[in-house]
Amino acid sequence: MTGELRFDGRTAVVTGAGAGLGRSHAMLLASRGAKVVVNDLHADAAQGVAAEISAAGGTAIAHAADISQPDGATDLVQTALDAWGRIDIVINNAGLLQPTDFADMTPEIFDRAYAVNLRASFLVTHAAWKPMVAQGYGRVVHTSSNSGLLGIGGSTGYASAKAGLWGFTRSLSLEAAPLGIHVNAIGPIAFTAMARTSRVAPPAWKSGEGDAWSRRLDVALVSPAVAWLAHEECTMNGQVLSVAAGRVARYVMGLNHGFVRDALTIEDVRDHDELLQHGEPAEFPAKANDESSALYRRVMPRSEPRK
Ligand SMILES: NC(=O)c1ccc[n+]([C@@H]2O[C@H](COP(=O)([O-])OP(=O)(O)OC[C@H]3O[C@@H](n4cnc5c(N)ncnc54)[C@H](O)[C@@H]3O)[C@@H](O)[C@H]2O)c1
Repeated sequence: MTGELRFDGRTAVVTGAGAGLGRSHAMLLASRGAKVVVNDLHADAAQGVAAEISAAGGTAIAHAADISQPDGATDLVQTALDAWGRIDIVINNAGLLQPTDFADMTPEIFDRAYAVNLRASFLVTHAAWKPMVAQGYGRVVHTSSNSGLLGIGGSTGYASAKAGLWGFTRSLSLEAAPLGIHVNAIGPIAFTAMARTSRVAPPAWKSGEGDAWSRRLDVALVSPAVAWLAHEECTMNGQVLSVAAGRVARYVMGLNHGFVRDALTIEDVRDHDELLQHGEPAEFPAKANDESSALYRRVMPRSEPRK
């Protein structure tokens, strides 16, 4: 494949685009011809990025709203529809990290993490769904995190919500495929305001000064993967890409081979502890049904055909 990838005639909404990764995604999409609604909680930030895009010759509208609320999410999509008549690309980027030891976790902090990191992705995607189905085309990119996919201490609310995006992405992609809509996600790492507040941020990050590693973790080295997932030529669907420092890779969910006993006992499980904890991943089912089918083939006698 050759040639510059462009988004002429396409419209996009990018949530949390007033700063950090979202700003970078919006700027890149606009620089390649997409018309972009720049959403952020902070009006001045959204307006600033929309102005930057316009100054660079692109087309953008600033949109200030909390997209974790249904009205904000609906209004965001309606802004694109009112201005340009279609919605092709949804970049669910807005996120909120509030590092909290579990002992100090409250229902309010947990719910807020869910609202911004997971529910907002549902709300904005759902608001765009009917128009996308009607036009037979759509590209949705969620923003997960290795904190949720792999685990991190001190952020159970954030991590659970980000892990929820794995299931949301994979499940929705199965419904989306026949409709011409692709749903994927990224797990980025980049030096942003949020990265500076992480529990694992080194002192040079927390101070905002940065270091050689933070300079390599440039937001501009994440956005090209987001833009590819948002492009009409991209056939990927239901995948989560790790994107950081110029490296792009696919996350996979696997099972190790495990063991089978027809009359499983507690002791059987105890006796296979080493295998369960350290056995190499051996199966990588693409969807839930694939795991069920493989299990059926392994444990059911061949003489009993599946009903
Ligand atoms: N930076 C990283 O290393 C990293 C790692 C993993 C995942 N992520 C994810 O990437 C995304 C972008 O992160 P970032 O590092 O650029 O963060 P950031 O904090 O620098 O920027 C996030 C932007 O989202 C906006 N925002 C927050 N809540 C909002 C809401 N309810 N409605 C509208 N806008 C809202 C903020 O005002 C801010 O401008 C987030 O989803 C984050 O969880 C980032």
